[in-house]
Amino acid sequence: MKKALSVALACSMALSLVACGGGSKPTEAPTTAAAGGDTTTEAAADTTTEAAAADSGAELANKDKPLVWFNRQPSSSATGQLDMTALNFNKDTYYVGFDANQGAELQGTMVKDYIEKNIDTIDRNGDGIIGYVLAIGDIGHNDSIARTRGVRKALGTGVEKDGNIDSTPVGTNADGTATVVQDGSIEAGGKTYVVRELASQEMKNSAGATWDAATAGNGIGTWSSSFGDQIDIVVSNNDGMGMSMFNAWSKDNNVPTFGYDANSDAVAAIAEGYGGTISQHADVQAYLTLRVLRNALDGVDINTGIATPDPAGNVLSDDVYVYRADERSYYALNVAVTSDNYQDFMDSTMVYAPVSNQLDASTSPEKAVWLNIYNSADNFLGSTYQPLLQKYDKLLNLKVDYIGGDGQTESNITNRLGNPSQYDAFAINMVKTDNAASYTSLLEQ
Ligand code: BGC
Ligand code: CA
Repeated sequence: MKKALSVALACSMALSLVACGGGSKPTEAPTTAAAGGDTTTEAAADTTTEAAAADSGAELANKDKPLVWFNRQPSSSATGQLDMTALNFNKDTYYVGFDANQGAELQGTMVKDYIEKNIDTIDRNGDGIIGYVLAIGDIGHNDSIARTRGVRKALGTGVEKDGNIDSTPVGTNADGTATVVQDGSIEAGGKTYVVRELASQEMKNSAGATWDAATAGNGIGTWSSSFGDQIDIVVSNNDGMGMSMFNAWSKDNNVPTFGYDANSDAVAAIAEGYGGTISQHADVQAYLTLRVLRNALDGVDINTGIATPDPAGNVLSDDVYVYRADERSYYALNVAVTSDNYQDFMDSTMVYAPVSNQLDASTSPEKAVWLNIYNSADNFLGSTYQPLLQKYDKLLNLKVDYIGGDGQTESNITNRLGNPSQYDAFAINMVKTDNAASYTSLLEQ
């Protein structure tokens, strides 16, 4: 506090000889070592570029600094309704994610197409029923809900509830009598097959972590011992859980397994029988996550380097993202990754070429960003998203402190946002999508 005041004073005393930065710079090494241990912390102490900051005069209050929510959209975990208060926290607040419904449709269609193409071999026990099991990530997460609905919709197993397909886990449904799903049907090879969701459950571990790969690995053990060769297909809300089930059971039993995220290990597994996955264009999302902060910090049009080229030539075409102004949200578009095209997706941490040009530090000077990953053990965020962020942060001249959470408790993360004044901007990945206020209240203090 005192330090900030004296910096401000020094600024005003220097008259306009040197423009003083709009954001404050860290004055000491950040004390943000991650509890999980496997996150990276880049030191953010650097006062020499302060003078280069072109913003006018007074220091911004934390509540006015650029803020981006990513991967977990502020919303009610019960109804999915967007939390517009959090999305409109200040004029430089955005969400970056991907189009959950478009991706969910793709995932469902990918599974259905696979069944149709492989109809001669898919029904392992020849009973005319195509049985599948489904690993659900987080019953209160919009993306997870959308994927469950997308698969049920494409396979005809969904049941309408309040105008939407019910996404409730079925538990087990050996005989097709469950009420949250129904038996669907597929016509292929001149025959009509029943499609049945034999089982589905949320893969949450006893400590409360969702999307839990280890839980899915155990889950497939239980399912395979009760259903055996009734299981013709394994579907998962993500690759972390999908690969865990593939490695534990489906690979050896030649049962096609479908995930989501296009993590490198899952893409490689397509060569070994993994059925397919969906790229949520993490290379575009990671860029957008930091880019919206960069643009706000530079005081330039928010579309710079997004819809319109920046001076370095970075620009995104509209086939890879959409922006919905009323939701303050950028959504990357998804692409199906199957045996037809997986060779093009082998490295999920490769920056997207059209936005891979280094910004000029004289116009986009170094700024300090606080960023958290809700669960340092999350496969997608850890193996795909964060490595991408760490490439883009350099291209965009941002010094980012990466904070890794335990995936269970919000306070484990918010405790490490103890001194927001050290940062120029914030990027937040909540544990629970209802919890935006736990962060914004810290910025309002
Ligand atoms: C990803 C999941 C991940 C989750 C974390 C989703 O978009 O597909 O793999 O676990 O985000 O919030
Ligand atoms: Ca069968």
